[in-house]
Amino acid sequence: MGDAVAAEPPYPSQVAELAGFSIPRLGMGTMALAIEGRPADREQAIMTIHAALDAGVRYLDTAWSYYLPSKPGTGEPDDMGYGEYLVRDALASWNGPRDEVLVATKTGWLRTLDSEGNYGWQADARPETMIANAKESALRLGVDAIDLLYSHCNDPQVPYEDQMGALKQLVDEGVAKTVGISRIGNADIATAHRILGSRLVAVQNQFSPVHRDPEHTMATCSKLGLAFVCWSPLGGFLDPFNEHLFDRFREIAAAHDCSYQRITLAWELAQYPYLFTIPSARNPHEIEDSFQAVDLRLSQGEIEYLNGNAAR
Ligand SMILES: NC(=O)c1ccc[n+]([C@@H]2O[C@H](COP(=O)([O-])OP(=O)(O)OC[C@H]3O[C@@H](n4cnc5c(N)ncnc54)[C@H](OP(=O)(O)O)[C@@H]3O)[C@@H](O)[C@H]2O)c1
Repeated sequence: MGDAVAAEPPYPSQVAELAGFSIPRLGMGTMALAIEGRPADREQAIMTIHAALDAGVRYLDTAWSYYLPSKPGTGEPDDMGYGEYLVRDALASWNGPRDEVLVATKTGWLRTLDSEGNYGWQADARPETMIANAKESALRLGVDAIDLLYSHCNDPQVPYEDQMGALKQLVDEGVAKTVGISRIGNADIATAHRILGSRLVAVQNQFSPVHRDPEHTMATCSKLGLAFVCWSPLGGFLDPFNEHLFDRFREIAAAHDCSYQRITLAWELAQYPYLFTIPSARNPHEIEDSFQAVDLRLSQGEIEYLNGNAAR
């Protein structure tokens, strides 16, 4: 008899259910198409979203706050809603099944510009702001009800219970079909789950080789049956990070003859069967490359090596 070969654990499915949609677990974040560094040509942004949808992406992630203030302060009417209008227009001009695409947006955060020309972010999650902005998001997206509406952050000036109360009201009034929460820890997840019950379907937190969920919020999502959606899954483009954190991903990529970004996304998808990852892209090539992570199967040894638990 030969040596017994240990069976590999079952590989998570490429598709999962989120907010009533059965979709591939790799979507697209559209922040890079809408804020600083966005393509100067709006047509290129639309082409990038079309390329994503043509490749098979069925989850587009935007936010009320994906715009650029043009004067010091929090906004200018001309640019308000830039990101949401972009998603609306890309879907309207796409030659594909619009009703298969989950569109998620977020409420409770604003952009700022200071007098030196630096862009920033500012929480404003007073219930009245969250509710008014979510209603604007539905209008901008051209939908009767938002498929999935996230609270963008926990505003330290407002009790989290009140922020969650606003989300609850938005579902109960039919402005949103389901809700999620973002940029939060385990205590906030418990509060949201208590207040929102089955209305709450997803947690959107940072997760990548740069930030490996030190508070283990993914495990909390698993316990509660919530989707975990990774933001900045490739490390993000706004803040610098240590490139060496991707060294092992580059090594595995060389063996698979593909980009290390694709390996990174495949590694994320292997972490939790109910994980969605939403990389940004500024051109068609990037998202076409990234989407192929859905079909990339890493071995258990590779996953452990990338987890940092084993030498190769
Ligand atoms: N909830 C929140 O607070 C929050 C915060 C941040 C982000 N998000 C969401 O997460 C999404 C993604 O995060 P992110 O925009 O910070 O960045 P990211 O997905 O980590 O991507 C960073 C950059 O990687 C490059 N890239 C992407 N695919 C590539 C590929 N296949 N090959 C080579 N390079 C590639 C692109 O930069 P270049 O164009 O320069 O090549 C992209 O902008 C956002 O769009 C947004 O929807 C949410």
